[in-house]
Amino acid sequence: MRRREAGMVPMPSANVKRRIRGYDWAVMQVDLRESWRIGDVEIPSRLVLAPMAGVSVQAFRRQGRRFGAGLVCSEMVSCAGLSHQNERTLGYLRIAADEHPLAVQIFGAEPAVMAEAARMVEDAGADIVDINFGCPVRKVTKTGAGAHCLEEPARACAIVEAVANAISLPLSVKMRRGLANGSRTCLDIGPQLVEAGAASLTLHPRSAKQMYTGEADHSLTAELVELVDVPVIASGDITSRARAQTVLATTGAAAVMVGRAAQGNPWALSQIMGEEAEPSREEVVAELALFMRETIRELGEHRATGFLKKFYGWYLGRGRFPKPFKQELVQLQTLDEVEQRLLAAAPGARFVLERLEDELPQGDEVLLDLPISIYGGG
Ligand SMILES: Cc1cc2nc3c(=O)[nH]c(=O)nc-3n(C[C@H](O)[C@H](O)[C@H](O)COP(=O)(O)O)c2cc1C
Repeated sequence: MRRREAGMVPMPSANVKRRIRGYDWAVMQVDLRESWRIGDVEIPSRLVLAPMAGVSVQAFRRQGRRFGAGLVCSEMVSCAGLSHQNERTLGYLRIAADEHPLAVQIFGAEPAVMAEAARMVEDAGADIVDINFGCPVRKVTKTGAGAHCLEEPARACAIVEAVANAISLPLSVKMRRGLANGSRTCLDIGPQLVEAGAASLTLHPRSAKQMYTGEADHSLTAELVELVDVPVIASGDITSRARAQTVLATTGAAAVMVGRAAQGNPWALSQIMGEEAEPSREEVVAELALFMRETIRELGEHRATGFLKKFYGWYLGRGRFPKPFKQELVQLQTLDEVEQRLLAAAPGARFVLERLEDELPQGDEVLLDLPISIYGGG
């Protein structure tokens, strides 16, 4: 492992054009379109779509890839649920052909069960197995999983080692800075996790206690980058191209991860990639309608109805449509009625939607690759 002492890192002078890990420090511009690797998996851009429970369905991930994310990730999947072949949990392993490269994230506290889950993730066709050491939610931490593992480095390393030995895919770890406010645990445990087999680390530098309050402190990301010789992904408060550029250039991270900014707003991704990206109302409605159709196919009408409600505000907010319009949609009985109402509000969206559907790979083999059939159902 390469360790660099603070102060010994040669900082390039502004007038010397030098490239370090893909950065042109002279102009402080990072090429977000440059590819990089986690293990032997090539990631075509330096933009990663964050795993988000209750958000990162297949439609969200496929959309993220279309808008420039080089890597997408499933939401956290319970290793116990996989191990018990719980039908709903197995559904999280559904991977579409156009999602690759894709990471599936698992959480749990028992190395052997995590290893078994990781093997199932590999069999389902993921490119990377991601381990969650960041979830701050009590329901998860009280079982010894998620961010709790940061306080138990021996267990965390045993999990990483067991998973690394169980699979031939690269494995990555996503973590918070620590449990308590001001914690620097990530800097102690990060190198140990790499030693144990992690091929990449993602840092969301807030404490678990902070949840989503305050700011992500990316000075810790910069410190972590100096301590490990695997790519580090910076997560937290990346909301614009300027912010992405600054975090990449000042931390030396291999990529930035975008979460909340992309909720109902895939145009944030294309904007970060450098495209002028203010969508028309027709584009907004067409993307939402496509998202709804895909989500219904994935979750079924009943589950999709509740799941989709939060997305209406996310898509239609930001001054795109008047507020009462969202209220109106939430009150409609069926998703078909919602779609009709949306298309009536922006009639040209019908053509945009048709074009989008034409461009996407379709068909059951692409979209409904159910691992349930592999494992005999749940
Ligand atoms: C609704 C929601 C669900 C999340 N679920 C997960 C998860 O399942 N796994 C995970 O590692 N992080 C999860 N996160 C954290 C995000 O991946 C990300 O690290 C965090 O939101 C900071 O990035 P942002 O400021 O770009 O949103 C979640 C965040 C949100 C807002």
